[in-house]
Amino acid sequence: MSLFTPIAQAITIGVMTQDELKKAVALAALTYVPMGGIIGVGTGSTANYFIAELGKIKHKFDGAVASSESTAQRLKALGIDVIELNNVVELEVYIDGADEITRLLAMIKGGGGALTREKIVAAVSRTFVCIADQSKLVDVLGRFPLPVEVIPIARSYVARELVKLGGQPEWRQGFVTDNGNCILDVYNLQILQPAELETTLNQIAGIVTNGLFARRGADVLLLGSEQGVKTLTR
Ligand code: A5P
Repeated sequence: MSLFTPIAQAITIGVMTQDELKKAVALAALTYVPMGGIIGVGTGSTANYFIAELGKIKHKFDGAVASSESTAQRLKALGIDVIELNNVVELEVYIDGADEITRLLAMIKGGGGALTREKIVAAVSRTFVCIADQSKLVDVLGRFPLPVEVIPIARSYVARELVKLGGQPEWRQGFVTDNGNCILDVYNLQILQPAELETTLNQIAGIVTNGLFARRGADVLLLGSEQGVKTLTR
């Protein structure tokens, strides 16, 4: 038997896992945390990696506004002050992930169901830094089903209206948002004009928020790739 039995299958050179790419962008986002300020913190697995990094520099900033109850719990567990948004006039930066993002930095968000609070925190923030691995970058939004938060009694009506727009809504059964509402995930949309569709959906009675973040998209995208973390801006 050869002493040099191939062990190539155990070695992966230059191939990073999706989690490693998420960690890399989470680390890169630390440079956007203002000294002594209050920051907005998003929700999801990529945001969770960012929260873990934040814990290591918690002395650098004054506190954070959370975009969900789960993020608030994670921040508190690390000893980071969680501040109510009503007590803040403006956030210098909001750091969050996305389910899909285009090169123009329009996004689909809400896979984790936190879209409403995410959109509110984004609205109050001067700079939105999106952190995402390369799988999230798309030419056209819509392969990821678009989450729509709906007042429970409006669920069937809103679903019918979404069908009229060409979508195929599915009720995320058993899921209740932090605001006590339900989510419809809308399949089969090819979203060529995200800002227009975002506005159209906002007009449907019963929709609280839709997961298109195009009217207020990201300002910066930190994209995790095999070549390192790329920075894209609008
Ligand atoms: C939470 O509601 C979402 O908007 C998340 O920000 C988004 O789904 C990205 O999540 P991951 O980082 O887990 O992919």
